[in-house]
Amino acid sequence: MGVEKIQIMNKEITIRDMNDNDLSEVSRIVCACYVWLAGQEGYTPEETSRLISERGSAEALISQQRECHFIVAEMDGKLTGIASTSKNIITKLYVDPEYFRKGIGSRLFDAAEKRIANDGYNDIFLGAFPVSAGFYEAKGMELEEKKLTTGGPIKGRMIWLYRKVIARA
Ligand SMILES: CC(C)(COP(=O)(O)OP(=O)(O)OC[C@H]1O[C@@H](n2cnc3c(N)ncnc32)[C@H](O)[C@@H]1OP(=O)(O)O)[C@@H](O)C(=O)NCCC(=O)NCCS
Repeated sequence: MGVEKIQIMNKEITIRDMNDNDLSEVSRIVCACYVWLAGQEGYTPEETSRLISERGSAEALISQQRECHFIVAEMDGKLTGIASTSKNIITKLYVDPEYFRKGIGSRLFDAAEKRIANDGYNDIFLGAFPVSAGFYEAKGMELEEKKLTTGGPIKGRMIWLYRKVIARA
């Protein structure tokens, strides 16, 4: 993507591709969200540390970058949110908990949707933590299935699968 500048609460937010210098900040945001989610979803300390080491650590992110494209939201030189896509799947969408409910997740979602549309796909898929359902439904995603994860750091926990058909002009 190019660089996109938006205004939120009188602040300029830049939405841009992630670069190597962003790695530790991206990891900080993803891990902060896992800790927040653990409280919301009732994950055990073991599940939370698996999420952090297998999905949120710098090492995990470096390996995800082989398959996923990452974008970041930056405000006053600080990262406030991140999103990643792989083909037509939104694989990650995390906002620094200090910045929830200011429209940053929405703008990252829009940028991810635009990338998927530009790549020629007609629909978007994602697996959501149940606590984020309200956000995804506000973004036009439709619930397809509620299922238990069969592997990974939170094996046996509920994940909600969403789909959205991309509207074309
Ligand atoms: C889900 C998440 C990305 C949303 O980002 P955000 O910047 O807080 O969301 P926005 O401010 O852009 O919200 C846009 C709209 O979504 C809806 N929404 C957002 N959070 C919501 C919530 N907790 N409950 C219900 N609706 C919500 C609202 O309609 C909101 O518009 P409004 O604030 O004008 O009412 C963010 O809360 C987050 O990172 N959560 C933790 C990690 C997570 O669950 N990520 C999703 C991975 S599956």
